[in-house]
Amino acid sequence: MFGRTSEAPVIEADVIAALSTVNDPELHRDLVSLNMIRDIEIDGGHVTFTVVLTTPACPLKSVIQEDCERALAGIPGVEKVTVVWDAQVQRDNRLSSQVDVPVKNAIAVGSGKGGVGKSTVAVNLAVALARRGATVGLLDADLYGPNVPLMMGVTGERPVSRDGKNIEPIEAHGVKLISIGFLVDAKTPLVWRGPMLHGALRQFLGDVNWGELDYLIIDLPPGTGDVQLSLTQALPLTGAVVVSTPQAVSQADVVKSIAMFQLEQIDVPVLGVIENMSGFIAPDTGVSYDIFGSGGGRTVAEDMDVPFLGTIPIDPAVRIGGDEGIPIVISAPDSPAAKAIDTIAADLAGKISVLNFNKPKERLFQADPDLSILS
Ligand SMILES: Nc1ncnc2c1ncn2[C@@H]1O[C@H](COP(=O)(O)OP(=O)(O)OP(=O)(O)O)[C@@H](O)[C@H]1O
Ligand SMILES: [Mg+2]
Repeated sequence: MFGRTSEAPVIEADVIAALSTVNDPELHRDLVSLNMIRDIEIDGGHVTFTVVLTTPACPLKSVIQEDCERALAGIPGVEKVTVVWDAQVQRDNRLSSQVDVPVKNAIAVGSGKGGVGKSTVAVNLAVALARRGATVGLLDADLYGPNVPLMMGVTGERPVSRDGKNIEPIEAHGVKLISIGFLVDAKTPLVWRGPMLHGALRQFLGDVNWGELDYLIIDLPPGTGDVQLSLTQALPLTGAVVVSTPQAVSQADVVKSIAMFQLEQIDVPVLGVIENMSGFIAPDTGVSYDIFGSGGGRTVAEDMDVPFLGTIPIDPAVRIGGDEGIPIVISAPDSPAAKAIDTIAADLAGKISVLNFNKPKERLFQADPDLSILS
């Protein structure tokens, strides 16, 4: 592509002009006006520059790289192009303007139905985003059946407080996490009354030293009840991911879950539907069997006019990874299930960038005064 020689030296203005013809494939604006180009260095025919992405989990890096190379190939004298990658995750300005926590984006993983794989998806999405370079927190908001410590391999850990006020999250697999499971005996049945529930969620959000997080993933309990309501009132969520299985019985619950997030007083954008336990690929033959059917998640997404994020197959390694505390994106990263989750994580990060980019600045969140962690 390169190799056209020129007597005149390559100059920065030509590089900028060429890069201003390259669009970010998701934001549909050029890289220069998006302020994504930094540190241009020219050494003879070798041009090096940094592209600051809106997420380190960007699914379209290779497209951007090729487009930049093609644009610079048009400049006489350019022989080699080196792109250095950096990322700065966009803040959800609704969240940052209303709540005093250093979390750039909060994403809830929910579903109307129990046992469809919400916690599995939440844990693996969090780890996948962290492996892609993002700073990630995981909040186990399933106050009735907290599974995240088991799935992350940290049962028995106890968070400590350094200042006697705030507690330090537990770190596992590159993710900071907090769960009621760290604070109570696993055998004790938890009976929450409304105000206690609010108080616990509020503490998990405000009294934990999360540090600066690109993404806080929140694992919700099943249903459309108190926890979901409290959470959406305490913290303006950037968006919600709804997990379904292929069966019709799950779809009806998914519809309810999506409708709940879309209620006017909740107003959480649904980032999309994931169909989990979608087909089983026999590891010995590679043949796919539709144990619970397939396609139901996509149908619901289309019916409800929300994005469909993809399917995750049934894989015993997913369950084993959950039981043993090593999420499948780490224990078997090349398995179809892990690859599916990783692709969904990148797509989700891209969707969040687009959402933040397009978010009207005036869309204000009215925190419930009793719950607001501003106070
Ligand atoms: N794709 C999959 N392949 C195989 N097993 C899976 C898959 N997804 C989830 N599982 C297993 O199914 C069980 C239920 O998953 P999980 O606990 O994540 O569901 P949940 O929706 O969070 O449940 P709850 O409603 O109780 O919170 C777990 O044992 C998990 O390991
Ligand atoms: Mg769960």
